[in-house]
Amino acid sequence: MKVVKTKDYDDMSRKAANLIAAQVTMKPDCVLGLATGSSPIGTYKDLIARYNNGDLDFSKVTSVNLDEYKGLDGSHDQSYRYFMNHNLFDHVNIRKECTFVPDGTEPDADKACGAHDAIIEKVGGIDLQLLGLGHNGHIGFNEPTDHFPTGTHCVDLTESTIEANKRFFASADDVPKQAYTMGIQNIMLARKIVVVVSGADKADILKKVVEGPVTPQVPASILQLHPDVTIVADAAAAAKLD
Ligand code: F6R
Repeated sequence: MKVVKTKDYDDMSRKAANLIAAQVTMKPDCVLGLATGSSPIGTYKDLIARYNNGDLDFSKVTSVNLDEYKGLDGSHDQSYRYFMNHNLFDHVNIRKECTFVPDGTEPDADKACGAHDAIIEKVGGIDLQLLGLGHNGHIGFNEPTDHFPTGTHCVDLTESTIEANKRFFASADDVPKQAYTMGIQNIMLARKIVVVVSGADKADILKKVVEGPVTPQVPASILQLHPDVTIVADAAAAAKLD
């Protein structure tokens, strides 16, 4: 596990964008695994700026997203499809038909999750997976539990995740209670993983992820076992690392 310590959020975003830009430049038809949330927004902004400068071409890129709320349509402004369109896809030349987010409108969880796994397989797996880190150590919506889930599956969101996400909804009651998420195996099979972590409120969990035991109680700790993980953390998030 490599840890790149950066000054602040903008510096973290620029350095994470460097890694993604290198991936797209070296393999223009690569498959990017993408995340939502506040951590990668700056990275996406940076990638858009590089596209606008003529330095990056997304025309051959395919993307697969980690997760989606069950029950939300892509036109809902809190859906992860909407987030991706708004924060990245609408601003670069990626072909929309090559961007895949789990289908939150599919009520049959097995069908929705099986379809997402089939897409990942069909596109040949993920070249670079971008991740954020939840306060409880979750990646995607793989919450702390007693095992590491494998493929895409339906999860009941924990109270702490509902609490963290309620800022995006009118109230905690409006936050969907379930989501479809890639599993730990989907993530671990990515050839390269980049994790963006920002803020003092992530310092304790980042220390557990990097220096603690590998345990499903801290889902991201399994990344210690992946051969190519780069954690790009700002100074506040990295403050407690040895
Ligand atoms: C988002 C996702 C989540 C977030 C995590 C951190 O697609 O899968 O695991 O990456 O909750 O969220 P932020 O970046 O908002 O702190």
